[in-house]
Amino acid sequence: MPIEEPVIDGPCFALSPEQEMIRQAAREFAQKEIAPVAAHHDETGEFPYPTVQKMGAQGFMGMEIPEEYGGAGLDTMSYVLALEEISKADGAHGTIMSVNNSLVCYGLYYFGDDEQRQKYLTPIASGQKIGAYSLTEPMSGSDAATMKSRAVREGDEYVINGRKSWVTSGPVAGVLLLFTMTAPELGNHGISAFIIEPDRPGCFIGKTESKLGIRASATAEIVFENYRCPAANRLGVEGQGFKIAMAMLDAGRVGIAAQALGLAEAAYEASVAYAREREAFGQKIGQFEGIQWKIADMKTRIEASRLLTYNAAQAKMRARTSGARYTLEAAMAKLFASETAMFCTHQAVQIHAGMGFSRELPLERYFRDAKITEIYEGTSEIQRVVIARQELALR
Ligand code: CAA
Repeated sequence: MPIEEPVIDGPCFALSPEQEMIRQAAREFAQKEIAPVAAHHDETGEFPYPTVQKMGAQGFMGMEIPEEYGGAGLDTMSYVLALEEISKADGAHGTIMSVNNSLVCYGLYYFGDDEQRQKYLTPIASGQKIGAYSLTEPMSGSDAATMKSRAVREGDEYVINGRKSWVTSGPVAGVLLLFTMTAPELGNHGISAFIIEPDRPGCFIGKTESKLGIRASATAEIVFENYRCPAANRLGVEGQGFKIAMAMLDAGRVGIAAQALGLAEAAYEASVAYAREREAFGQKIGQFEGIQWKIADMKTRIEASRLLTYNAAQAKMRARTSGARYTLEAAMAKLFASETAMFCTHQAVQIHAGMGFSRELPLERYFRDAKITEIYEGTSEIQRVVIARQELALR
């Protein structure tokens, strides 16, 4: 009996015609609408409201959320493909899209009740409002469970005090998912999640961060001073907040892997074009082995990142029905793709030499934007801890 070969379309994964169509639509949108404004927003640090609004209108802000809650009702592969294309045009738009989709929409959909979904998820998934996720504090980043902020129950409200930091989209958010301590004596089992309306009294935007990269995405501290949050806005069960935060980060890390993949591809494609065209010592620079080795290493790492990222997307899709965790797949994809983005953007600057260092071309922006992918939603060191713990506990 002949063995049936799987149908492989493209470099590694079979895409459905719908997924291919979404990738193409995202590519056209990103190159037409985002690429031309990316340098301006990087230079000024202005939040790109017009293009983010257009992303919402195109369905890119709540891609996996069912249409009844304002989303596009698509699968994780479609989301990852679209995010890759958006990030290829601009890493900062990729960040805004990833946090909105993978953290906020995902969290509200999977942990929210129907009332919370109607009220908070619908405007976020449709792009009418922007969502933010707030776990980190000035003294607790990687060690997320040691947070100092507090929520104290008073009747049918919680009174929240404390300072959160590094909140992506914090200054522009219409809805914020907050993780804070309701029972400090219980450690990570004393953390709860809340849906915050930032325009209510007691919630203030603190210091806004001036950053090396993804400068168009707004990042700030959020300060709570006797903010009164209705108990109806608690997301999930009291004390389950840490697990909810970690589950959202599993989803988030798949998104950051896709963002990193897009950045790496942008740097790679520019490098190939330059190596084919630029001449030195009487020949195209692509004819020198020194450049060929860089191109080969970039390409190989990109394709490995793609496999890991699409594999994590498939694992996340399977989790919808099985409920199984995909922590390992997400961490491996995020780790490898973000280090690949850093490697490729670094090599791309080197291949372009002076032009890579110049702001005339986007290479130096790709290089600066790539760095954050090794840091946020868990540093590369934390991803290694997560991967090793999964393996050592399971085997
Ligand atoms: N899904 C569900 N539950 C999980 C989980 C997951 N992925 N990971 C851990 N848990 C559960 C564990 O099973 C455990 O449950 P029990 O206590 O009932 O046994 C509990 O959570 C605690 O787990 P750990 O003992 O492993 O927790 P830890 O304190 O040792 O921390 C860690 C583990 C991996 C280091 C974790 O703290 C971590 O991922 N840190 C990095 C945090 C991070 O990524 N921060 C970035 C925030 S967002 C951001 O970057 C900005 C932005 O705006 C996007």
